[in-house]
Amino acid sequence: MPPPNTSPQFPQGIATEDAFCNREKERELLKKSIERHEHLVLTAPRRYGKTSLIMQVLHENTFPGTRIDFFFSTSQSDVLKAISEGVSALMNDLLPEGQATRSKIINQLITLNPKLTFQFLGQKLELSSKQSSEKNLTELLLTLDQCAQETKKTCVMVLDEFQQIGELKENHSIEAAIRHAVERSQYVTYIFCGSARHLLNKMFSDKSRPLYHLCDLITLDRIETPSYQTFLNHLAKKNWGKKLPEDCFLEIMHLTENHPYYVNTLCRKLWHNDTLPDLSTIRKTWHDYVTQQASWIVSDFSKLTLNRRKLLIALAKQPSCEPQSHAFSMEVNSSPSVIQKSLADLIQLDLVYKRTDGYYVLLNPAMSYFLSMELAA
Ligand SMILES: Nc1ncnc2c1ncn2[C@@H]1O[C@H](COP(=O)(O)OP(=O)(O)OP(=O)(O)O)[C@@H](O)[C@H]1O
Ligand SMILES: [Mg+2]
Repeated sequence: MPPPNTSPQFPQGIATEDAFCNREKERELLKKSIERHEHLVLTAPRRYGKTSLIMQVLHENTFPGTRIDFFFSTSQSDVLKAISEGVSALMNDLLPEGQATRSKIINQLITLNPKLTFQFLGQKLELSSKQSSEKNLTELLLTLDQCAQETKKTCVMVLDEFQQIGELKENHSIEAAIRHAVERSQYVTYIFCGSARHLLNKMFSDKSRPLYHLCDLITLDRIETPSYQTFLNHLAKKNWGKKLPEDCFLEIMHLTENHPYYVNTLCRKLWHNDTLPDLSTIRKTWHDYVTQQASWIVSDFSKLTLNRRKLLIALAKQPSCEPQSHAFSMEVNSSPSVIQKSLADLIQLDLVYKRTDGYYVLLNPAMSYFLSMELAA
């Protein structure tokens, strides 16, 4: 049997260490913000590398940190449970090794927080609240800050897929409880992260919501071509003893449109070859991969309204910087106002985005390739 992960340099999931490409500016920015206790909201479309970036920053720095994933939290008690687990994990990292100092700090925390339960599983401390209410949530988070204060260490709490909380029935009270704790924290830096950007933006930019303007916003973009060139050539030399020919490298960038998930997917397959891939191998590998994904792409596409589908097809055929122009409207066979509405919807659904050169294009390079292929057939 082959080893479980034969291509750790191109993971499907979180990339760190040798599998991590660039993001130098963002890594520095995150590090500085954490050290200054400036809380952040990190957003990007799905599979752009939010979690990888955070995990890499935690890995390469010394501050203790933990990530709570709210993807499967469907109730207030799920949220409370996830937060008490995260707080317990971080407190275990913060507490010193020596038994005497450890006990002293814990005893102080117990006196300060009589409503919380402190339990020991061997050496491990587990913190939970006696009741499930938003107040306990604030208390848990503030206890973490007290612990960090006692140990004089900066630590990081990452709240991933945080938009899920905005979807809960009790969202307002949970958000208010979190705001209350975050505002008072002096040693804990919070990073809120998620991919449903319109939901996350609403939580942090709507004046009526408790988390309004609590943090600085960072938006992740795709990784630039020169960074990928250095990274992929290093891995090519490791695998085949040679750099990728320029045209082959550019073809990988062209097909995957620098989307980190798709760069990894294509390269993972190419790097299995014994010899350096040529242009036709790269194109065939991508073609075969997209063809295998056809049923997922068709299923996403068929859920859209006719106007949205028409616009998506037109943009797959020809990206546009003026989708409301007369010429484009003739091409799509829709009025500029219908196009404007469909475009806004497709952007919100993360199916279309505005590239840095001002052109509107499909966000998913596999969908874009598939639709162009179908149109050409
Ligand atoms: N800096 C990077 N270098 C190399 N690969 C990366 C990098 N960032 C992300 N990737 C790859 O991109 C894909 C998505 O990464 P990740 O899961 O971190 O993204 P995400 O934005 O958190 O996704 P989701 O929206 O699903 O939570 C993975 O295959 C990962 O290995
Ligand atoms: Mg993620």
